[in-house]
Amino acid sequence: MKLNFDSFLNKFTEAEWLKAVEDLLPLTHEVDRTAVQVWFRFYPLNLFRFVEAAEDREKTIQRLGLQGNFLLKDQIDSSHRFLYGHRYWKTVKAEIEAEAERFDNAEIGLADEVKKIATASAAKVKADVSLLTGIAAAGLMTLVQSGLENFKAAKGEPDKPKGIMAKSPEQIVATRAKDDSQGLLGFLKTINKQFSIIFDETISNGRFPVMNDQQLTSASQADKSQDWRARDSRCWDGVIPIECTAASCGTCWIGVIGGQEKLSEVAPRERRQMKVFGYEQPDDARPFLRLACQSRAFGNATIVIPPWNGVFGKQVYHDVEELELEPVTTSAKHLRETVREATAGDQK
Ligand code: FES
Repeated sequence: MKLNFDSFLNKFTEAEWLKAVEDLLPLTHEVDRTAVQVWFRFYPLNLFRFVEAAEDREKTIQRLGLQGNFLLKDQIDSSHRFLYGHRYWKTVKAEIEAEAERFDNAEIGLADEVKKIATASAAKVKADVSLLTGIAAAGLMTLVQSGLENFKAAKGEPDKPKGIMAKSPEQIVATRAKDDSQGLLGFLKTINKQFSIIFDETISNGRFPVMNDQQLTSASQADKSQDWRARDSRCWDGVIPIECTAASCGTCWIGVIGGQEKLSEVAPRERRQMKVFGYEQPDDARPFLRLACQSRAFGNATIVIPPWNGVFGKQVYHDVEELELEPVTTSAKHLRETVREATAGDQK
């Protein structure tokens, strides 16, 4: 008997989705192992459900300080372009749609369902299944947050692999691990070392220089080579959106898909503020989710900049402690007020 695929996928909590992704990591190629975990933090199911359930949607969006594009239904074909598996999106999307038509096993586990989609798609494109596990998981979550009708209506056309992304999965992993050369006698250099932060692997100029021990946001601000605002209206000073540069607003959050070990360790303030903002930062000393204004670089790193930001930890995750805010250092008054609300009494 055919069952409702939407209802099946919707019965899982955010924690169960994250657990399924984690369980699948050994079956996921290294090129997408961190990227898929970052993707799932960029599009939190709990936030989506909170906003959907709100009586006054617009007011809720304002109250959570949501800025930019946080809706997957508006980026069905593009949100996962930083995954290697994005190139297989057309096939994976078609496979998910076919599964929605024939679904008849409500007892299957979430990880097994992801595996099923990845395996069937891999056979069609004649690629190793480990390269499609991440995109299959992201595709199923995209269906949950978009609805079947919107999902089907999307063209399903992925971007053509370009730049670093045109290389083989192994070459991409190796490129991410490498630091810029410091010149012929670079090994003698103790000062003035310069590295690169790669923020878009699909374009040739998707990088900006960073000095050894420099904060990512100040390096991003120093790069005036492009009109960053044309790329994202939040980018008024550099490719990384910023407001406070003091861990107070949550605007500058990033995913780190390569070289996370070459960034400074998380300090207690960043750790605590990430909870306030609602960003699910893992407990590691150098996790894959960071505030760029609190991260200093000691080598090349590959980052992904999410297309939105907000302050929703208290309302959505209910695990935020009271904290004292520092004096205002930003013109983003609304954001400051949102953070203050998020840390002072229950606003629900
Ligand atoms: S710019 Fe405000 S938290 Fe980093």
